[in-house]
Amino acid sequence: MHQKLLSCLALAVALSQLLMPANGVSYEVDRHNVSELVDSHELVLLLFYSNRCKYSRQLMPIYESAASQLHSRLGGTGNLALGKVDCDREPEMESHYDIGKYPTIKIVRNKYVNKKEYRGQRSVEAIVSFALEELLDPIQEFVSLNELHDLNTQKYLVIGHYERNSHEEYMAYRRAASNMKDHCQFHVKFTEASGPNSLTFQEHLNHTESLSLFTGNMSSQEELMKWFTMKCIPIVRELTFSNAEELTEEGRLFVILFHNPQDKKSPTDFKRVVRTELMDEVEKVIFLTADGILFASPLLHMNKTEADLPFIAIDSFAHMYPFPEFEDLYKPGKLREFVKQLHTGDLHWNYHFSEFMNSIDDDEDDIAVPSLLPPASKFIELRPSKHRYTFARDEL
Ligand SMILES: *[C@@H]1O[C@H](CO)[C@@H](O)[C@H](O)[C@H]1NC(C)=O
Ligand SMILES: *[C@@H]1O[C@H](CO)[C@@H](O)[C@H](O)[C@H]1NC(C)=O
Ligand SMILES: *[C@@H]1O[C@H](CO)[C@@H](O)[C@H](O)[C@H]1NC(C)=O
Ligand SMILES: *[C@@H]1O[C@H](CO)[C@@H](O)[C@H](O)[C@H]1NC(C)=O
Repeated sequence: MHQKLLSCLALAVALSQLLMPANGVSYEVDRHNVSELVDSHELVLLLFYSNRCKYSRQLMPIYESAASQLHSRLGGTGNLALGKVDCDREPEMESHYDIGKYPTIKIVRNKYVNKKEYRGQRSVEAIVSFALEELLDPIQEFVSLNELHDLNTQKYLVIGHYERNSHEEYMAYRRAASNMKDHCQFHVKFTEASGPNSLTFQEHLNHTESLSLFTGNMSSQEELMKWFTMKCIPIVRELTFSNAEELTEEGRLFVILFHNPQDKKSPTDFKRVVRTELMDEVEKVIFLTADGILFASPLLHMNKTEADLPFIAIDSFAHMYPFPEFEDLYKPGKLREFVKQLHTGDLHWNYHFSEFMNSIDDDEDDIAVPSLLPPASKFIELRPSKHRYTFARDEL
């Protein structure tokens, strides 16, 4: 993290340019008055910038222009505001909001600071459409469950039955849902007549084995969010170019199965082994599957090619550790032992993840902009440098 800041600062001092004066309608806030902004708007984008950072200066006029477009579209309703924080003056806020690089756009919704930050393109159009989309109702209403059968969704389902939309419990559902809409598909049916409000979770409509009822406090946004997090985010996720950086920021190790995209069996088996043997590791580890053709570069780094798939490795962000024999996945306890070994430091540090990082991103002054990633299939061509792909920097 410090490397990033320092490299940005060094560059900026060298250029020693001044920030363009802000002429839009974004609000400059500090630690004393940020709550005024956050408390009075459903959605607040907060830009953390440093005048000494080139990328901050480049973004500022774009951000101001987005703010002014949004203002004219929405007519200054209480739903949305764009704010900005000068990190040179507000170091406390920088650490409070856990800012690792400039510029960073944080999303604050119903006073809750999203873990996820804005990672879209740094253009006026992209910021405007992102904000408008974020304002859409995260919950879709239905009358009959049959309507939901037509849904083509990868996400798990949360289905609510509420008396009315002005109910305090429904408002809590709506707030919690807006913060979790990337992970779940939320629905509601309003039924004035029958019983208490209820919320159920299901992996998908026909998957009744996974059905469960929320039994916590229906008025608590926090409890609901915890439940959605536990239910909707799968134990084993797929690694993609667009989620890679975000995943690295969770600060947990990666255990990755690289597989051939045609091979559906090994991901299924991997998931089963993780569920049965490694559930106590989920706080410390992110379990991932990755398309071994797209992610050929980290494989090559471990001297592996398509012919070696499927292949399992741990990435500790300092190093990568190959699981010696994929077939050992089928020997009870083997994968578990391998993952546990990492915590006790027994694995040999053979494979230097940092070298892999250098091989794909040696442009130190660059600040991560994953949205500028080329389409996935271009990845291999883009090695070794000059692009903005940051799978993970060797900085944790
Ligand atoms: C917050 O306080 C700062 C410093 O006093 C001031 O420059 C800024 O305009 C204030 N922002 C709002 C939204 O009141
Ligand atoms: C679920 O079941 C319904 C009716 O039983 C069927 O029409 C629908 O296609 C099924 N959906 C899935 C995803 O299997
Ligand atoms: C449920 O949550 C709400 C909102 O956080 C809180 O005000 C209320 O006291 C909680 N109720 C119980 C029974 O804990
Ligand atoms: C890479 O793998 C090949 C084939 O498995 C092997 O012959 C070669 O020695 C390996 N190279 C290194 C540097 O490990």
